[in-house]
Amino acid sequence: MIKKLIGAVALMLTCTTAAFAAEGGFPLDKAPYRVNDMASLQNGAKLFVNYCLNCHSASSMRYNKLKDIGLTDQQIKESLLFTGEKVGDMMTIAMSPKDAKKWFGTTPPDLSVIARAKSVNAGPSGADYIYTYLRTFYRDTSRATGWNNLVFPAVGMPHALWEMQGPRELTTIAMHEVEAKDAKEGAPKTWERVTTVYDAQGFSTVKAEPVADYRGHATFDAKFKAANPAQVATYDNDVADLTAFMSWMAEPVQTLRVRIGVGVMLFLLLFFLVTWRLNASYWKHVR
Ligand code: HEC
Repeated sequence: MIKKLIGAVALMLTCTTAAFAAEGGFPLDKAPYRVNDMASLQNGAKLFVNYCLNCHSASSMRYNKLKDIGLTDQQIKESLLFTGEKVGDMMTIAMSPKDAKKWFGTTPPDLSVIARAKSVNAGPSGADYIYTYLRTFYRDTSRATGWNNLVFPAVGMPHALWEMQGPRELTTIAMHEVEAKDAKEGAPKTWERVTTVYDAQGFSTVKAEPVADYRGHATFDAKFKAANPAQVATYDNDVADLTAFMSWMAEPVQTLRVRIGVGVMLFLLLFFLVTWRLNASYWKHVR
């Protein structure tokens, strides 16, 4: 009985790890944790409203909820609201889903809880996914939007923050097995290294070379080269703020939840000490 139970748990664990590995082809960078940093959240909110709400909505979010991250009604009105919105309004957009479909081939998802949604299928942290996704866009002339992405290949979204990030060149190196046309049964596999360079305009040059005696497995490696690395560092910092904002938005009470959790644990510890001593003193005379 116990053995069966252990077996079932082990099976469940292997299934979940397999699911993680299946979605994440490209390794995710760790997003800096800034959900408890008001200045970061405010900067993130500003970027979100200015650059993302044109296409995406965040319909479970109201502008006046931003008071929780330290903004006043006045600040919200002056720097975040455009034509005709009120502070009590929800973060919706004017673009219709039909137009979106026509322009991008797909509807931009509502971003209210994207950080949580992504944490369900893209590994432990949705924040890591968003942080990496927003930093791995590259120009690719073969795409209708002119953009492609390393963690979301053939993505329908153009790079909304490209001016902030500045021009970059991308080099990818893929090691993959090739099917030889007249390979005999049991013949050793042949491998090829494909190096693709996308220049800052998105034009690509591909170089494929056979690799003799390769004993590893298929690999994929990508490296960006920025025209201005300092600008990219600033960009990464801004994206960290934006990511923090999106993960706060997905769960605004998360810091409170952690504080309550710690409080409950402390209470239980104290309670345990009291019951333990009480138990000892009750039984003192019985023995
Ligand atoms: C020009 C319109 C447009 C803008 C501006 C835009 N997006 Fe998108 N976004 C899209 C579309 C379209 C998709 C759907 C892509 C697809 O499914 O291929 C998308 C998808 C996404 C996804 C989901 C990716 C996934 O893995 O499912 C995230 C996260 C996202 N956008 C974040 C942002 C953020 C953050 C901003 C602001 C910096 C932003 N977007 C600005 C059009 C836009």
